[in-house]
Amino acid sequence: MKHRIAISTLMVGVLFLACTPKNPEEEKIENLLSQMTIEEKIGQMNQLDPSWDAEPKEQLIKEGKVGSIFNVVGAKEINRLQRMAVEESRLGIPLLVARDVIHGYETIYPIPLGQGATWNTALVERAAQLTAQEATSFGIHWAFSPMVDVAHDPRWGRVAEGYGEDSYLTSRMGAAVVRGYQSEGMAACVKHFAGYSVSEGGRDYNTTWIPEVQLRDIYLPPFKAALDAGAMSIMCSFNDMNGLPSSANHHLNVDLLRTEWHSDALLVSDWGSGSDLVPHGLAANKKDAALRCINARMEMDMQGNIYTDYLKELLDEGKIKESQIDECVRSILRMKFRLGLFENPYVDEENPKKYTPEEIAIVDQAVEESAILLKNDGVLPLTLDKKQQTILVCGPMADQKKEQLGTWVFDGKPEYSVTPLMAFNELAQSGNFKVLYEPGLSFSRDKNSKGINKAVTQAKKADVILYFCGEEAILSGEARCRANLNLPGAQCEMMDALVATGKPVVMIVMAGRPLTIGAQAEKAAAVLYAFHGGTRAGVGLANLITGKAVPSGKTPITFPKMVGQVPLYYNRHNTGRPSYAPPMLIDSIPIGCPQFSIGQSSYWLETPTEPLYPFGFGLSYTTFEYGEPQISQTELADSIIVSCEITNTGSKDAFEVAQLYTHQLYGDLVRPICELKGFQKIFIPAGEKKEVQFTLHKSDLGYWHEQKHNCESRVWFATDPVDFELWVSPDSRRLTKPIAFKVK
Ligand code: BGC
Repeated sequence: MKHRIAISTLMVGVLFLACTPKNPEEEKIENLLSQMTIEEKIGQMNQLDPSWDAEPKEQLIKEGKVGSIFNVVGAKEINRLQRMAVEESRLGIPLLVARDVIHGYETIYPIPLGQGATWNTALVERAAQLTAQEATSFGIHWAFSPMVDVAHDPRWGRVAEGYGEDSYLTSRMGAAVVRGYQSEGMAACVKHFAGYSVSEGGRDYNTTWIPEVQLRDIYLPPFKAALDAGAMSIMCSFNDMNGLPSSANHHLNVDLLRTEWHSDALLVSDWGSGSDLVPHGLAANKKDAALRCINARMEMDMQGNIYTDYLKELLDEGKIKESQIDECVRSILRMKFRLGLFENPYVDEENPKKYTPEEIAIVDQAVEESAILLKNDGVLPLTLDKKQQTILVCGPMADQKKEQLGTWVFDGKPEYSVTPLMAFNELAQSGNFKVLYEPGLSFSRDKNSKGINKAVTQAKKADVILYFCGEEAILSGEARCRANLNLPGAQCEMMDALVATGKPVVMIVMAGRPLTIGAQAEKAAAVLYAFHGGTRAGVGLANLITGKAVPSGKTPITFPKMVGQVPLYYNRHNTGRPSYAPPMLIDSIPIGCPQFSIGQSSYWLETPTEPLYPFGFGLSYTTFEYGEPQISQTELADSIIVSCEITNTGSKDAFEVAQLYTHQLYGDLVRPICELKGFQKIFIPAGEKKEVQFTLHKSDLGYWHEQKHNCESRVWFATDPVDFELWVSPDSRRLTKPIAFKVK
């Protein structure tokens, strides 16, 4: 009897499944999959950069042996190759056309780190939307961005490509980019999954060791946020994490991505990250690498050729199952259907969209909002109308059309760039001032100091000096890591020589990372940190310097005083011996001082733990006063409302970024000294007051716990029912009195 019930239940189940209407998209996928040969399936898993591969791409495409191409330039060429896939291959499956569209296509926006400094998600989303309009009009369907690797180490060159050191800020920014791209029909690819930014010593591709709870608390949330925003794809990372490279990491790629997060985003390798398993020392040879990658469900192989070369052999030998290949191909076809490529495979060759007036306005706004005013003794904004003034524009970054674009610019056209010198010359035509120009150094690494003397001669004739310093584009980005974070070349010497003239020097730093500019900033009358601002960097910076725009950027990453402090980030733990002030620095230790252990605390002999500029910091041309935050209840069961009044106490209308921080006082594990839980960028006219409101949920205060028993480890997410405090502040320091509350 029991047996009969079981069988009839099974039959009802089968009947139910058979009658359940299938999702039409999934039906199309299954239909196509059923017609594909094994070679065609493996072909779909192959992503090819034709500029690198010797084999004629045309033949491979016609044979259905390529699923995606990247780095193919121009709508005509893209259409030509697409026609081969659609019209000449047996099944006519269109190609996915990918590109590193990182911060703009032809029109280049500030580097992502600069976009992070805007703290303006709506602006970043709009920039991504306009970028996608441009890129898709050139035939690109798939952007290899956003990069949401949370980075604590400015030595790592790729710090330029992300949104800084905070998981929450990065999550908000990454999700905004995904929404922006995908609303215009360009798939986002959130990368690099995972832990890539934690490379030891800030050296690219290096080993990472990340405990599971830290991975889940800090490094994974931006990926989850981007996937929740709909990201259609995700990219493996190059690094090994705890001994296992991502392309072969089943825990990340299957347990987490598929089972826990229920994501159906396409998982693509990074460039050859599958075949890299051999030099990593994980795989015995490339065939073994292919086996490990497919077993970890790496779905598409970017330029590694391990799937094309070995998957069939592995299948014939019975080492893998066809169903493993099928599940990868399903993801690839799904993305092609979702992008509408089967209906619309071609791009209109006659209608490239670029430099539209709206885009120019958004780019200018992005430059203005990405620059951070770090110091100002009152010299800025320049008061150019009062009397005729002479401005010296100098420095190796003042007139560098290409360098101001920053890293990862394949399609941006330097000839369209407006440099600071060009912008000031333009303004001078209608303004009451004269511009002198002398670069001093001809590129950022220039050590030839002859030019500095020329700049000094000009400086003596000027009322104010605008010193555009920083790093050339090629000094940041992939594999561009630095062991020293100073201004390169003779730029520090040039700063000293300019300061020695007695004229006020405004330092404008155009770089791909925070640099250790403390000594120079101390001597400067003002410091504007501009990152690499892109095509229109000159216009936005000139607007800020002359007061047409008011700075509102805030640091998305902590600026260290010296490279030895790295990694230095705001949401660190307190330690059992927090640094006291003032600590006993190296020169204050008495000669022959005996060893002692009382009063020891956590700092370096050369510097306390304070950074040069904290996370979230940035000045304005006005001032803001923060009231004491109010909370709706002192006991948090589900959520509380936090509100705070902010008054613009200065004379300029301006934007302010109000930041909500919390601190858990004690608990199951040690928690950070503060954590960003919300931010709002609001416009406050001079003399007016505005209220910001945040809703803080219990889950916002949760974190990953871990219990170890014998050799088993269990992790879970929970909020401890303990005492907390919060504050609303212009940066991550405790500038207002914290308010206490308790979680029930
Ligand atoms: C980078 C990726 C990039 C890919 C394709 C790799 O070297 O790590 O971020 O998308 O190349 O150019």
